[in-house]
Amino acid sequence: MRRNRNKEQPSIKNAEELELMRQSCKRLAYVHSKLKDFIRPGISTADINEYGESLIAEQGGKPNFKNYNGYPAAICVSVNDEVVHGIPSADRILEEGDIVSLDCGLIYEGFHSDAARTWGVGNIHPNAQKLIDDTRKSFFEGIRMAINGNHLYDISNAIAAYLTPLGYGIVRDLTGHGIGRNLHEEPVIPNYRIPFKKGIELKPGMTLAVEPMVTLGTWRVYWESDGWTVRTQDGAPAAHYENTIAIRPDGEPEILTLMEDEK
Ligand code: MF3
Ligand code: CO
Repeated sequence: MRRNRNKEQPSIKNAEELELMRQSCKRLAYVHSKLKDFIRPGISTADINEYGESLIAEQGGKPNFKNYNGYPAAICVSVNDEVVHGIPSADRILEEGDIVSLDCGLIYEGFHSDAARTWGVGNIHPNAQKLIDDTRKSFFEGIRMAINGNHLYDISNAIAAYLTPLGYGIVRDLTGHGIGRNLHEEPVIPNYRIPFKKGIELKPGMTLAVEPMVTLGTWRVYWESDGWTVRTQDGAPAAHYENTIAIRPDGEPEILTLMEDEK
């Protein structure tokens, strides 16, 4: 999501609501697992969107990105230097060596889920694979801090502390976010270091979308003329890894959108 939203407290989900979040997220994880196997050279980004939309429907969900602030598709498909919010197109054909980020969400029984993965297309450069792997690892570093009584920026700082010494760019213009009955709720969750401030206290029943966006070059990005596609200013490739998580009643984090083969 974009930065700078109003200052409200995040919604706290009760046990029933958490269970509905789980149901929504489980369906989204399934969609991602099928999309992973679908990625290959020669398909278009519109093919991915079309397949993803059919999977969401098959799961009894509705695409929550479609028509969100006018976004025209169910899935954001972002290739190489495109960081996020790439608009699927029949003219954009994946080639061996590309990396492709799929950001997808759905709404099920009134609850939103949101997750992103970056995949290699065929054989990719080892540096690109390392970028993808480290982006994923940074998420897990962050999530270790998502426990009752910790503070929001413990997550941000842990993500940044992992990525910064490795020399990556951490995108600052977009952040993670609370999620629940709305796709984007409070709080805003930066992936960069926040000095001096702690952020809100983390509590059971919070559900958060944590989503590091990481580049092999600068953190600086720009919006393309289509009003959506975000690209790195230096043209370096970028990766994205996002899960919807919950802080459970016992105070521990639960990752709700993990695919079966990630567990
Ligand atoms: N996961 C994306 C985000 O949090 C959702 C984008 S919805 C879209 O920014 F409609 F803007 F694409
Ligand atoms: Co998100």
